[in-house]
Amino acid sequence: MSANLYRSIGDLRGFSLRNCPPMAEPSGVLMCPPDHFQVLAVKNPYMARHVGDVNRDKAKRQWEDLVAAFTAAGCGVSIIPATPGLEDMVFAANSSLAGTRPDGEKVALISSMRHSSRRKETEAFAVWYEAHGYRVARTKTSGHETFEGSGDAMWHPGKRLIWGGHGFRTDPVMFEQVADTFKTPVIQLKLVNERFYHLDTCFCPLSPETVLIYPAAFDAASLELILKIFPIVVTSSEADAVSRLACNAAVWRSKTAIIQKGANAASGHMRAMGLNVIEVDTSEFVKSGGSVYCMKQYLFG
Ligand code: ARG
Repeated sequence: MSANLYRSIGDLRGFSLRNCPPMAEPSGVLMCPPDHFQVLAVKNPYMARHVGDVNRDKAKRQWEDLVAAFTAAGCGVSIIPATPGLEDMVFAANSSLAGTRPDGEKVALISSMRHSSRRKETEAFAVWYEAHGYRVARTKTSGHETFEGSGDAMWHPGKRLIWGGHGFRTDPVMFEQVADTFKTPVIQLKLVNERFYHLDTCFCPLSPETVLIYPAAFDAASLELILKIFPIVVTSSEADAVSRLACNAAVWRSKTAIIQKGANAASGHMRAMGLNVIEVDTSEFVKSGGSVYCMKQYLFG
């Protein structure tokens, strides 16, 4: 096992967040308009009742409001054009993980998607990254292992540390490539509840010290890891986590949280810790199992 991978509390002996080097905050986000967004094949439990049920005009308005929310938070928004036939490309988090290496080089690690209907998305993102100064690194698989980008791999705010979720869309063996690509340690968390099929549906760092989670999404060893590293762990109610994907909020520079409207317990916690909260309606995208966090990719450098 690579020294850079942590799977249990025993592995964390001698590890401290204080010893993790600082990491620049994201410089902006990359988003893809929902021009071809639809719910077609059922890839997660949210989609089951919604096949063919997307209101594309409403989705477009909700997406524009989300762009406005990021802009209002002070976060620049870059746009990648939507490719016809790629109905999930609006979920820009999944096809890659962008970041920097300790020497400052900007790298985009391109995903290996679980579902064949999403595999072509990765090429469109690779082309965008090449045109925008990133070195493109491709995940290597022997055919069946998958990795779904920043849906399952998340930078710790301000630190050279990555949290990696596995169990449904990403295979744990892929985190060796993540750790190597970014020369950064990865703490692995096992997801055990299929409603929470990506890490970004149940784990939302609010600041370097605080995380919002839905505990029943994780196995016991993973909960121990989270409690060991974050001094403050806030939990989401089941209703907020499931019906409003509250843990799929995005927090910009530990200052502004953008979250699905109506997730009142979660947004209350955010306000209590001093975050500005912008509520948006992503209901058309929740039908497909996604909300704020997965509708963008964090960019660096
Ligand atoms: N329908 C998409 C899928 O199942 C939704 C992806 C949402 N992304 C996320 N990171 N939660 O692949």
